[in-house]
Amino acid sequence: MKFDLSGQVVVVSGGSSGIGWAIAREFRQEGARVYVLDRQPIAAPGEFGDVMALLTDVTDFSAVQRRADEITTQAGRVDHVVCAAGVGSGHFGFPFWNVPIESWDRVWRVNVMGTVHLAQAFQPMLRERGDGTLLTVASVAGQIGSQTDPPYSAAKAAVINFTQCTAKDLAPFGIRANCLCPGMVRTPLNRSVYESWASRQPADSTETYDEWTDRKIRQVVPLQRWQEPEDVAALAVFLASPRGRNITGQTLNVDGGFVMHW
Ligand SMILES: NC(=O)c1ccc[n+]([C@@H]2O[C@H](COP(=O)([O-])OP(=O)(O)OC[C@H]3O[C@@H](n4cnc5c(N)ncnc54)[C@H](O)[C@@H]3O)[C@@H](O)[C@H]2O)c1
Repeated sequence: MKFDLSGQVVVVSGGSSGIGWAIAREFRQEGARVYVLDRQPIAAPGEFGDVMALLTDVTDFSAVQRRADEITTQAGRVDHVVCAAGVGSGHFGFPFWNVPIESWDRVWRVNVMGTVHLAQAFQPMLRERGDGTLLTVASVAGQIGSQTDPPYSAAKAAVINFTQCTAKDLAPFGIRANCLCPGMVRTPLNRSVYESWASRQPADSTETYDEWTDRKIRQVVPLQRWQEPEDVAALAVFLASPRGRNITGQTLNVDGGFVMHW
């Protein structure tokens, strides 16, 4: 244990897979009691020890509120809330006019409203504790008007902005709120970007996932390597710990230098 969050209670949305999963695991390793809210079961439950997985769709505010009440009744407190649930539109690499209008709504509801729902449902518990954190997960795409997936990019920009609003509102209560922006992380979401691109290439010229990502990383990541879910998780527990006690309202990139001007 580096930060010792023993006895603290953490809620992680999107904690069944990828980055959210790594964050949930890191909090467990720091001794915290972890509740995962996800619409799918945890992929590798054995590695989690006694983590509580509660099937929840974050787009449903009543469902999130019910989970907040259940967790508070069961655990008696909530110290940290991490909003990592996210989706892309599935229409990657198209100009915005070729993204079906209906696709915007789901991306907005999961990424933006899913984050708002958690913040709204858990703020009474956080304010009551008077010493916790709210952590959102956006993306470098939210900072650069990425053409990869316009609805996703715009939604992540909204998450960054909303996090700043929450940081100002929660600061008088001793709660810190920050936003993590991963760069290129090998997860199912990242692979789905490749699959969407590959499905539109002529059969004889399609790159493999590894070739495609190697090329992208060479082009846009100054450190020339993948970011790992654990890199993001390490910063998440640091921010939740007393070591991060003077950090709030910040957008922190874990992106190998992809974005350097925000
Ligand atoms: N992988 C990357 O390269 C990358 C880069 C930048 C930002 N991100 C962000 O990091 C976060 C985690 O993504 P990931 O790459 O680990 O993807 P992932 O697909 O592995 O995990 C996303 C999780 O969110 C859950 N989820 C989706 N919709 C939900 C809903 N309506 N209700 C509850 N849970 C829901 C999924 O079931 C899944 O477990 C996302 O917010 C994503 O936008 C990822």
